[in-house]
Amino acid sequence: MPIPFLEPFRIKMVEPIRMTTREERTKTLAEASLNVFRIRGEDVYVDMLTDSGTGAMSDSQWGRLMVGDESYAGAKSFFRLKEAVEDVMGFPFVLPTHQGRGAESVLFQAILKPGQVVPNNRHFDTTQGNILELGGRPVDLAVKESGDPQLDAPFKGNMDIERLKSFIEEVGPENIPVGMLTITNNSAAGQPVSMANIRATAKVYRSFGIPFIIDACRFAENAMFIKMREPGYADKSIIEIAREEFSYADGCTMSAKKDAIVNIGGFLALRDHGLYEQVAEKLILHEGYITYGGLAGRDLEAVAQGLREGVDEDYLRYRLAHTRYLGEVLQAAGIPVYQPTGGHAVYADAGACLPHIPPEQFPGVALADMLYLEGGVRACEIGSLMFSHPDPATGKMITPPLELVRFAIPRRVYTRSHLEYIGDVAAEVVKNAGSVRGVKIVEAPKLLRHFLAKMDWIK
Ligand code: F0G
Repeated sequence: MPIPFLEPFRIKMVEPIRMTTREERTKTLAEASLNVFRIRGEDVYVDMLTDSGTGAMSDSQWGRLMVGDESYAGAKSFFRLKEAVEDVMGFPFVLPTHQGRGAESVLFQAILKPGQVVPNNRHFDTTQGNILELGGRPVDLAVKESGDPQLDAPFKGNMDIERLKSFIEEVGPENIPVGMLTITNNSAAGQPVSMANIRATAKVYRSFGIPFIIDACRFAENAMFIKMREPGYADKSIIEIAREEFSYADGCTMSAKKDAIVNIGGFLALRDHGLYEQVAEKLILHEGYITYGGLAGRDLEAVAQGLREGVDEDYLRYRLAHTRYLGEVLQAAGIPVYQPTGGHAVYADAGACLPHIPPEQFPGVALADMLYLEGGVRACEIGSLMFSHPDPATGKMITPPLELVRFAIPRRVYTRSHLEYIGDVAAEVVKNAGSVRGVKIVEAPKLLRHFLAKMDWIK
């Protein structure tokens, strides 16, 4: 069925952006030590660095900002958020946090002991980082198909259920304080997870008595994929599907900066009052009181409203079609793209695009740098720079299966012509792909090094 590419909104307010010259960009990139995170937003023309916190809020969300209740404790706005979370996700207990990683941090601080293990289909970098920082071990158990960029399958974000079972038996459930599942699977090219897989993952965790927490940032895009691809869901509403996704879990960590379309905010939602109380203590110390958790009352209002807008079917249909279109544009430009395109982003296979650059010379960084130089397009490496880390148990380097560059699409922000422009820029980069050099790290922190690393071209 063709998906209509129709924006269910129109533009009410604009933000000027500026095209730079090649000379300016060369200087900017050198000053940024080849790390696109170090480039100023105003020096970027089309910014696909992230879909997180970069969305355009609706008129209703901006309206809600004016009625934010800024009471320190018990603000009306908190109860509006709590109601929205309960309605859309079905969890009775909500702890607001400043963003998704805040929810991860307080959850793990409350329940994770050094040496313990947290399985996931694929941990996002902050989840991985939060676990490592507490002396835990993050383990990725996505299906093997997720590592095949050309395989066209509907749910490549799935958990490998058999591996999960044998892994838990191997390390012992007593060493696993919580089991996770990330929907959609951001680190595996934004691929969705099927309802059957959510159910099966929950069953495994439950059979071992392990609490099951969903990393829910893009649960609505995941629900739309289920509606479009999984038998039995075509006639269900998104909110019904979303509620079912969460019905199998004990809670979720949520970055509201994604599918709740706000510029800042997140929360931890839970079913169990005991766990809620355990985390609440950590929340007060690290984020803020239990009814605001590091956010202003107005932010809570915007999240509550955005959570409902995020599950609008017309919006989601447009959203997935928009993303798929960028995938088609890049393919046509000669950039090998991970198939099928995910929900929030298109992942270029930098390893295949620049086969002469080995993983330890970061082909993803090289491709992202060339896209910036060529046309002021900012995309982000999701490969060895972001994910390689020594295994805390063995000290051996763990490397990701693919070297990708992610074009993450801000929600309700860019038009079809911006996407076509990215295609034009990519085509120019492809023309000279053979002469692109790899990069080396000059300076980098240990944890989450991709944000701050300084790099140089290999001579
Ligand atoms: N989990 C997933 C799957 C994510 O994609 C992110 C953020 C987080 C957790 C953390 O949320 O940023 O609000 O603290 N992803 C962004 C990205 C940053 O660009 O993919 P946060």
